[in-house]
Amino acid sequence: MLDGQTNQALACVRSLGRAGYRVLVASQRRWPLAAWSRYSRGGFRLPGQTVAAFARLRAWAERQRVDVVLPLTERACVLCNAERGAWEAAGITVGCGPDGMLLPAFDKARTVERASRCDVAIPPTRAPDSLAAARLAAEAVGFPCVVKPRFSNAWDGSGFLPDLGTAYVARQEDLDAAVQVRRQGAHWPLIQGFVPGQGKGVFALCDRGQVTAWFAHERLRDVRPSGSGSSLRRSVALSARLRDPAARLLADLEWHGPAMVEFRDDGAGPPCLMEVNGRFWGSLQLAIDAGVDFPALWLRILCGETVAPTSGYREGVTVRWLWGDVKRFLHILEGPPPGYPGRYPTRWEGLRELFGSQPAGTRLEVWDRTDPWPAVGEWMEGLRDLLTRRQANGRASTLPGSSGRFSLAR
Ligand SMILES: Nc1ncnc2c1ncn2[C@@H]1O[C@H](COP(=O)(O)OP(=O)(O)O)[C@@H](O)[C@H]1O
Ligand SMILES: [Mg+2]
Repeated sequence: MLDGQTNQALACVRSLGRAGYRVLVASQRRWPLAAWSRYSRGGFRLPGQTVAAFARLRAWAERQRVDVVLPLTERACVLCNAERGAWEAAGITVGCGPDGMLLPAFDKARTVERASRCDVAIPPTRAPDSLAAARLAAEAVGFPCVVKPRFSNAWDGSGFLPDLGTAYVARQEDLDAAVQVRRQGAHWPLIQGFVPGQGKGVFALCDRGQVTAWFAHERLRDVRPSGSGSSLRRSVALSARLRDPAARLLADLEWHGPAMVEFRDDGAGPPCLMEVNGRFWGSLQLAIDAGVDFPALWLRILCGETVAPTSGYREGVTVRWLWGDVKRFLHILEGPPPGYPGRYPTRWEGLRELFGSQPAGTRLEVWDRTDPWPAVGEWMEGLRDLLTRRQANGRASTLPGSSGRFSLAR
């Protein structure tokens, strides 16, 4: 299991450990979240996010007689695929699709192109190739506009370029700076019209373009109030409004593996595609708690089984990521990102969310009575992150354009 520091790794380790697999955890961190689980039988500390570091991981995995390597983030997918042949030659199945399948999802310009080809609504989008073209693009889509890096994890052949995230630009005079810092080598950021509505996602596991399992949730709180992963969410019935366009897009991409298709929906027009996250998502534990054991299903597909499409799950299951709520509160204290046009919670609302009562039956994501140590590990690692961040902020000013994004590991 790669990316052991993520919530989805913990969900996978618990799921697969309970299913009887021997699970080993790798991460760049010394004490990654998933390694605190009783189901983690050993671990490897990656010396970096490089092809060389992954070659060392592979040598270790071979000695451990590993059968499957499961990357859980885009970066780990890119790095496994960089030497996919070597993994396979070592007898290890790589748990993500090949580059040819992943890149149209990782490159947001290509994703919207593919989406519009199969009749999925997309935001007004321009892919400029110069600053002058970006100015024209912004005028064409209108202000406020969204400046979005073309890749969340741009790989330049030897390393990853920083992701400054989406910027909201309200005025022409703020455009140039937002565009220039989001340029990734030859790739200029996308310019999109601001789409009103609520963020909604559908989750799927695919077997060569065919969906084997679906899941949907409703976000009740995002970690970053301007849009991000969620800290409180509830399982809901899968709406055909989201399922149908997602199914068309996943079939067009011939997707193999897990994916989260992200939309913005104002309830009026058709839901508008934001992006495809071609990997397991942060709130994976909610799907498992509601009855869709995605990691176990994916492993069976990877081992060559034909898995019958699953149907149904429990609706109304609510899962809270407590540490995510703490981070949300810090974002609220920091205030909205510059130019953000939506409504932003007040500090008082933030306090009430954090300490007030939660929806009836809310479960905690990381806490598990039968596997208690990850809950301890999360707070220790989280507090260490906060301290490191404070020290770093004390030493140097933050990157231009990075305000509104915490440099926390998760
Ligand atoms: N065109 C848009 N209109 C309104 N909000 C947007 C738009 N594009 C992105 N966002 C907001 O920014 C968030 C991040 O954008 P996204 O494309 O999902 O990139 P990533 O999650 O990789 O940073 C989205 O979840 C959404 O809340
Ligand atoms: Mg997103």
